[in-house]
Amino acid sequence: MEAETQGDWVAMVTARAPTNIAVIKYWGKRNQKLILPINSSISITLNPHDLSATTTVAVSPSFTADRLWLNGKEVSIEGDRYQNCLREIRSRATEVTDPKTSRIITKKDWESLHVHIVSKNNFPTAAGLASSAAGFACLVYALAQLMGVRERYKGEISSIARIGSGSACRSLYGGFVEWDMGKDDDGKDSIAIQLAEEKHWEDLVVIIAVVSSRRKETSSTLGMQDSVNTSKLLLHRAKEIVPKVMVEMRKAIKERDFATFARICCADSNQFHATCLDTSPPIFYLNDTSKRIISMVERWNKAEGTPQAAYTFDAGPNAVLFAPDKAKACELLSRLLFYFPPASDKKISSYVVGDVDMLAFKEVDSCFQPPEAEGTNCTRSFGELDHILCTRPGEGPLVLKDHLVDSSTGLPI
Ligand code: DP6
Repeated sequence: MEAETQGDWVAMVTARAPTNIAVIKYWGKRNQKLILPINSSISITLNPHDLSATTTVAVSPSFTADRLWLNGKEVSIEGDRYQNCLREIRSRATEVTDPKTSRIITKKDWESLHVHIVSKNNFPTAAGLASSAAGFACLVYALAQLMGVRERYKGEISSIARIGSGSACRSLYGGFVEWDMGKDDDGKDSIAIQLAEEKHWEDLVVIIAVVSSRRKETSSTLGMQDSVNTSKLLLHRAKEIVPKVMVEMRKAIKERDFATFARICCADSNQFHATCLDTSPPIFYLNDTSKRIISMVERWNKAEGTPQAAYTFDAGPNAVLFAPDKAKACELLSRLLFYFPPASDKKISSYVVGDVDMLAFKEVDSCFQPPEAEGTNCTRSFGELDHILCTRPGEGPLVLKDHLVDSSTGLPI
């Protein structure tokens, strides 16, 4: 925490939190207000260097209202989700002594002090990559640091991020994370639990294929509400299927068993999209490009007789692909570049982005020709993908030194 003494003081904390991608999907709530899910889920936290939110939370006696700036624009903080997170963190605030100035902010002070929140993503929101998970995880983590909130039980802070956005609870930890759906009506036991650190499965590579043309998609929140109300398949999935695949997926992660991981991951994504189709009115998140990526991976896996890569799709057409190691990731990238070459005006350096160095991928590798076993009657079409982002499993939230709020004005820098 840092405080300034010129005029009224400002104290602030800045944090960074990662995004995550579910490999066993959360879809459907049993309690809308508390965001309690109808099934448990598992995700992989993505490297925050490539995809993350950074948030500064500042307090000062001179602030007259809670205010929020997202990606450079002031937006309303009145929504229930923000208010619920703020209320829950404030109610757990403790006495904090600023290490620099020795100023004491008492538990009572926090009740009347207003916050200024400035948050930004290190990736364009237009890229269609989930930002609410990183955003709420970061907000709740930063507020908890600022207000001296100490967990009374493991996972308590993740349960507060959960009431901002369900998937946000999983971004409170790095590596491989489970969101236990819990049983309690008050949601106390609906928390994230780290299954393994990112280092546990270091070789795993994540490649995100961001598709170009995007129509307005049904939001996850509204989509899952319709699914819960109308899809019998979803209820069967939540009750009968997910509990079993959770056990298998935990084991596959523990044993770094890529073949089992890939099989469950692809099947779960396809089943989630089947429940979307089983919703009335049906929801279509996958488009033709998404389906072509699925067949590309399926053809390759079939030709080799064992999974070479896995795919998963959230509430949108972008593919998140996994490869067991760097060599396979290069082969996967070669295939993507062959079947989905960039638009003619795009350079490869702005087409393949993120942690490209880790792959040591050379342009020569891109002279790929599909082996006969994978089918030769394949089409290539330019510009279907906007870009391809290379990343890997990453760490959880942490506190940063550089702030996004000016300590003399209390406004965004
Ligand atoms: C398809 O967490 O965005 O990404 O809880 O209503 O904020 P709310 O929904 P959200 O839903 C994410 C759905 C998903 C699957 C997943 O991340 O598990």
